[in-house]
Amino acid sequence: MISTPDRAATAKSSLDLLNRSVADELQAVHQYMYFHFQLGDQGLGPLSSLFKRTAIMEMGHVEALAERILFLKGEVEMTAAGPVAKITDPAAMLARAAEMEQASVRDYNHAAKECAALADAGTQQLFERLVADEESHFDQFEKQLDHIKCFGLSYLALQSFSTLNALPGKE
Ligand SMILES: [Fe+2]
Ligand SMILES: [Fe+2]
Repeated sequence: MISTPDRAATAKSSLDLLNRSVADELQAVHQYMYFHFQLGDQGLGPLSSLFKRTAIMEMGHVEALAERILFLKGEVEMTAAGPVAKITDPAAMLARAAEMEQASVRDYNHAAKECAALADAGTQQLFERLVADEESHFDQFEKQLDHIKCFGLSYLALQSFSTLNALPGKE
């Protein structure tokens, strides 16, 4: 049986990992919303929507992490890990987003392993669930980036054009 001081130490280690992740998720929310606004302004609707949808999912991650922090009797530190990068080129945005997702996959795999060593299976499972989400985000961003590399930036314009034509009432 784990003694009380050990339990406190375990919770402290898990809380540190959880709060660091909240900070990274908040940074991702800010960054992806910035990309969403910029792409909307450039008339690139589908890619703009992809960033908005992903930002909302990252906000859901903040919520899941915060719920776990409160369950462990910790305080949720709502501070983003870093400032927004003012990137306006769509390919550079996707490259940056893919990098961020890869970093999250690496960090959350590591955090899950640390929580397993702390015998904190609840937090470990949360990090494992986040790994799966971040891998799917990475996959989506990488696919868009691959299409731009193959077909050039006109791919994004054509993507927007076909979406406009698909709107109800359009022939
Ligand atoms: Fe996330
Ligand atoms: Fe993500």
